[in-house]
Amino acid sequence: MDVLECIKNRRSIRDFEKKPVDRSVIEEIVSLASFAPSWKNTQVTRYLVIDDEAKIAEIAKDYTTCFAYNGNTIGKAAALVAVTAIKGRSGVEKDGSFTTKREASWLMFDAGCAVQTFCLAAHEKGLGTVIMGIFDDSLSGYLKIPEDRELVCLICMGYPAVSPDAPKRKGVDELLSYMQ
Ligand SMILES: Cc1cc2nc3c(=O)[nH]c(=O)nc-3n(C[C@H](O)[C@H](O)[C@H](O)COP(=O)(O)O)c2cc1C
Repeated sequence: MDVLECIKNRRSIRDFEKKPVDRSVIEEIVSLASFAPSWKNTQVTRYLVIDDEAKIAEIAKDYTTCFAYNGNTIGKAAALVAVTAIKGRSGVEKDGSFTTKREASWLMFDAGCAVQTFCLAAHEKGLGTVIMGIFDDSLSGYLKIPEDRELVCLICMGYPAVSPDAPKRKGVDELLSYMQ
């Protein structure tokens, strides 16, 4: 798939076919996502895949009480990816001091770069994804995320059962300016 087509036609997918995603395909996607840029090449992003139907159903039911809409989507996913990032590296010097005034928030930036790369790679492989930032705090405990990791977001994944139109985008005239 042409890269421009991939960027333009990737959509958030919230309904999936009842078809499993082969682990070898997930491994290829993670390998492609590893080429995302990161703070001083620290590569702090990690992917925990839940592809057991019963566990996905449990997460959908018990860990999205703050936003049931997401539970509905998770319940249809063939695989759920919990994206974590190792704390204390991105934006942080070896002596523990922060490199910039943005302190440790570069962790989220790195994870964002990696997640978008992941979603584009998945799209190229014919898979639909949707990034989720809203879930119950208790999910970290259920997933046994270690203390030195941040649970950044979830990615629902599966073969798309829908093909939504792109939500309206802002024009370049609004997005772009040049210094006078
Ligand atoms: C950081 C982030 C968090 C998001 N959280 C959610 C979410 O919790 N639930 C959801 O259905 N979509 C979520 N989305 C998907 C956005 O709603 C979606 O990207 C946006 O509407 C544009 O649609 P598109 O991805 O199809 O271009 C999230 C996207 C991002 C980048």
